[in-house]
Amino acid sequence: MRTVEWTPAGVRVIDQRVLPGSELYRTYTTCEEVAEAIRTMVIRGAPAIGVAAAFGIALGVRASVAAGEDLPAAFERICQTMAATRPTAVNLFWAIERMRRQFEHLRAEKTPEALIAEALVAEAQAIHAEDIATCRQIGRHGAELIPDGATVLTHCNAGALATAGYGTALGVIRAAVEQGKRITVYADETRPFLQGARLTTWELMQDGIPVTLICDNMAGHFMKLGRINCVVVGADRIAANGDTANKIGTYMVAVLAQRHRIPFYVAAPVSTLDLTLETGDGIPIEDRAAQEVTHIASVPIAPAGVAVANPAFDVTPHDLITGIITERGVAYPPFTVSLRRLAAGT
Ligand code: MRU
Repeated sequence: MRTVEWTPAGVRVIDQRVLPGSELYRTYTTCEEVAEAIRTMVIRGAPAIGVAAAFGIALGVRASVAAGEDLPAAFERICQTMAATRPTAVNLFWAIERMRRQFEHLRAEKTPEALIAEALVAEAQAIHAEDIATCRQIGRHGAELIPDGATVLTHCNAGALATAGYGTALGVIRAAVEQGKRITVYADETRPFLQGARLTTWELMQDGIPVTLICDNMAGHFMKLGRINCVVVGADRIAANGDTANKIGTYMVAVLAQRHRIPFYVAAPVSTLDLTLETGDGIPIEDRAAQEVTHIASVPIAPAGVAVANPAFDVTPHDLITGIITERGVAYPPFTVSLRRLAAGT
């Protein structure tokens, strides 16, 4: 299974809206199509969104060069199209900035436009390859924290589908299993988009890792019964003090974990850190369509016209987080110090 990849025909992604019922691959040939795929959750998950955006920019630049457009102006337009897709995952903006740096470098070197287009394809492919390597490193660091025989609760999908491959939170679980540990996973269904029920269970079952699906409101019950040994989740944006935006419902899980003295870990690449924000208060939270809440698989479950709130993410305060697992190691409180150290690579 490949989440997102560059092919001679365009950017190929697995359509995550229809999993696990159908394994449908789509190929996009324009940056507008890639942007729409991100907006409509064909592809989702913070690192995967970043990789898709980089490929989308490469597609856009190639088309602009072929059309003989003014390239710097076209590049800005393409980046804006990508940036307007989803606001919360900072990996999107990180990937756009990385593509912009490469574009500016190539322009400064007076690289011919046709070669700029190809060099940007190569840069996007490098982001893709690095993401897989990064996830494996996160897995290696995180696996040390998971005891043999543990039952791990996770929320949403921070797996291969949410990255270029292997996953962050699920990467930690995969690495622990590869080390020979016997691990069981409890997967929150993750209302309203059901990434846990549809995607996390599917991924883990494909790998033969034991997984039990629970509704979001069951986590406290199982923690109270002593059935959960630790929590590992992904992240969409982590502020300098460790406050972490992740899928709506993560905060609730973190509060429950603290109450039951269960370690709560966040697994994310350094590209998910946003050290320009001192706290999580500044993280933009995406609001999504009411239909995601009022309907399940297109079937209405609420009265027509009911008022709905649908924030796609919440922010878990840093004091509920035991450790943040990155490819460069595990950050522990005080996060204001440890995250800056990790980001600086010291
Ligand atoms: O709305 P989504 O499905 O893009 O949200 C995904 C999450 O919240 C993930 O936990 C997060 O992006 C980390 S993915 C490695």
